[in-house]
Amino acid sequence: MRLLVTGGAGFIGSNFVHQTLASRPDVEVTVLDLFTYAGSRSALAPVADRISIVEGDIADRELVDSLVSTSDAVVHFAAESHNDNSLAEPWPFVHTNVVGTFSLLEAVRRHDVRYHHISTDEVYGDLELDDPAKFTESTPYNPSSPYSSTKASSDLLVRAWVRSFGVRATISNCSNNYGPYQHVEKFIPRQITNLIDGIRPRLYGAGQNVRDWIHVWDHNDAVWTILDRGEIGETYLIGANGEHDNRTVVQLILQAFGRDADDFDQVTDRPGHDLRYAIDSSRLRKELGWAPKYESFTDGLASTIEWYRSHEDWWRHQKERTEQGYRERGEKTIAP
Ligand code: NAD
Ligand code: DAU
Repeated sequence: MRLLVTGGAGFIGSNFVHQTLASRPDVEVTVLDLFTYAGSRSALAPVADRISIVEGDIADRELVDSLVSTSDAVVHFAAESHNDNSLAEPWPFVHTNVVGTFSLLEAVRRHDVRYHHISTDEVYGDLELDDPAKFTESTPYNPSSPYSSTKASSDLLVRAWVRSFGVRATISNCSNNYGPYQHVEKFIPRQITNLIDGIRPRLYGAGQNVRDWIHVWDHNDAVWTILDRGEIGETYLIGANGEHDNRTVVQLILQAFGRDADDFDQVTDRPGHDLRYAIDSSRLRKELGWAPKYESFTDGLASTIEWYRSHEDWWRHQKERTEQGYRERGEKTIAP
């Protein structure tokens, strides 16, 4: 199988490439990635001689057409992925997430190539903190941020291309991922690398917001399950019952570093901050037989902390620029 992986130099995409090469000797991987600030050549360095890497924009329709024409399937991870960035500068999100997805859909339509679209639970908006409900495949779309609205737009394009043109596509909407190779702008790696650097973790607001954590390797196993057995035209939610509020996550990280539970700073909250995400993944489990392997969040967190401790060469050059960006956008301590 000739597989085109967009965004294969990013967090989830690079893990997907590593996992695919380790478990699927029959798959030839081509990565298409623009190598934005979030794309990492060194994340692919261990496997660079076993894959093709093309540097380019998914919105470049000629380039995409030629790569898709020689592929059997496309897995589309490429995106602008960070909510805080989308609040500061939305245009790259519209360009990559909407126009880029359109360009891929047109190419898979022309060449009748199987397409899997990676999306997020954020398209459903948020849930109340005290609501026992979870998102399901039939929850109405209600995105809050520029990031999530562009992801929702791209999902809707996929659905329309399936219905109108018979494109052979599936969609997955996953909850918050953690694990190796995640950019230090994101919540968990930011706090781990802060603590390595002797900086107190930074909690937005009171830290009551809840995210539903899943290890990136479980997400990618689910993607392969959908590629293997998913029904064309269908959407599958991916989640591992990993709900924790942000304060608890920070305290688990502090505990792993042997620090006091209140050794963090509360900083300016994110505007429009979604309260809670929670995924009901029973469809994927019942219909396709998938189940997560990394069920202990504490163990997954411990191995992720160990990974950041032993891969400082991978993240060090991103750290100061990232923190500078947070400062420039006005992040301020509101309570010690
Ligand atoms: P990431 O930001 O780490 O990586 C994105 C990759 O896309 C980078 O390598 C970047 O260089 C590349 N890219 C950006 N614009 C591009 C363009 N125009 N053309 C080609 N490549 C481009 O993101 P991630 O966290 O790995 O997320 C991957 C996908 O998974 C995204 O679609 C995201 O919406 C989705 N998702 C992420 C999470 C999560 O928790 N991180 C959860 C659910 C879904
Ligand atoms: O739910 C899936 C989504 O998860 C993906 O679609 C996104 O691509 C991914 O970035 C992630 O979005 P979040 O906005 O939930 O992730 P982030 O890591 O930015 O923040 C997680 C939570 O932690 C959120 O409630 C904001 C909070 N936070 C974040 C940072 C960076 C803090 O409290 N402090 C911080 O320093």
